[in-house]
Amino acid sequence: MEKIYRTISPEKIPWNLEIPPDIIQNIVKSGRVKPCKAIELGCGTGNYVIYLSSMDFNTTGVDISITAIEMAKKSATEKKIKCNFITADVLGEMAEIQSNYDFAYDWELLHHIFPEEREKYITNVYKLLNPGGKYLSVCFSEKSPQFGGAGKYRKTPFDTVLYFSSDNEMVNLFQTLFEIEELKTVTIQGKYTPHKVIYAFLKKR
Ligand SMILES: C[S@@+](CC[C@H](N)C(=O)[O-])C[C@H]1O[C@@H](n2cnc3c(N)ncnc32)[C@H](O)[C@@H]1O
Repeated sequence: MEKIYRTISPEKIPWNLEIPPDIIQNIVKSGRVKPCKAIELGCGTGNYVIYLSSMDFNTTGVDISITAIEMAKKSATEKKIKCNFITADVLGEMAEIQSNYDFAYDWELLHHIFPEEREKYITNVYKLLNPGGKYLSVCFSEKSPQFGGAGKYRKTPFDTVLYFSSDNEMVNLFQTLFEIEELKTVTIQGKYTPHKVIYAFLKKR
C-alpha cells in the first residue's frame, strides 16, 4: 500500500475518489448518522474524512500508510477543513488512538483483512465505539466479477491480494458484537467500473 501511495498519482489510484460514494453521502444527508465523533479505519488519502468534517462531524482518519496520511493532512489543510489523521495498524493494539467514537466506518478496507485477522479487527472497532455507537462497513463481495476473476482470494494488477466475502461470512463476523441493522450485497459505482460490495450498517451491542 505504501508503495502504491508513493508511486501512483492520486488521480490514478483506482479507489481514490474525491467525491464520496452515494452510500456515505446518503447516510449523512438522510440523518441516519447525525454529526458526531466519527472515525474512518483505512482512510487512504482522507477524502471521506474531509467530507464528514465539512458536514459538521468531528472526524478522525486512520491508515497504516504514512504517505497516505501525509497526503490526507495536506489535502485537509489545502481545503481548510479541520480533521485529525493518525498513522496506525488497525490490526494492532491501536495505542495511537486515545479516544472513543459514536460512528466508525471502513470503506473498502475489510477485503484487505483476511478471515484469520478479522476477529482482532472487529474487536478493535468494538472497543473504539461508545455504547450504542454505529458502524458502517463496505467491502468487496464474492459476487463481484472484478479484479482477478473468480474465487475468494484475487490478485489485482496493483499486486495486492484481496479477499472477497459472502453475506454469511459477514453476518457471522459481526453478529456477536454488533446488532445488524442492515446487511446486503449492493452495486456501487467504482472509479472505473461498477462492483458488488457487501454493505453492513451495525450498532454496538
Ligand atoms: C482500498 S483502500 C481504501 C481507502 C479509503 N477508504 C478510500 O476509499 O479511499 C484501503 C486502505 O486501507 C489501508 N489499510 C490496509 N490495511 C490496513 C491496516 N492493517 N491498518 C490500517 N490501514 C490499513 C490501506 O493503506 C488503504 O489506504
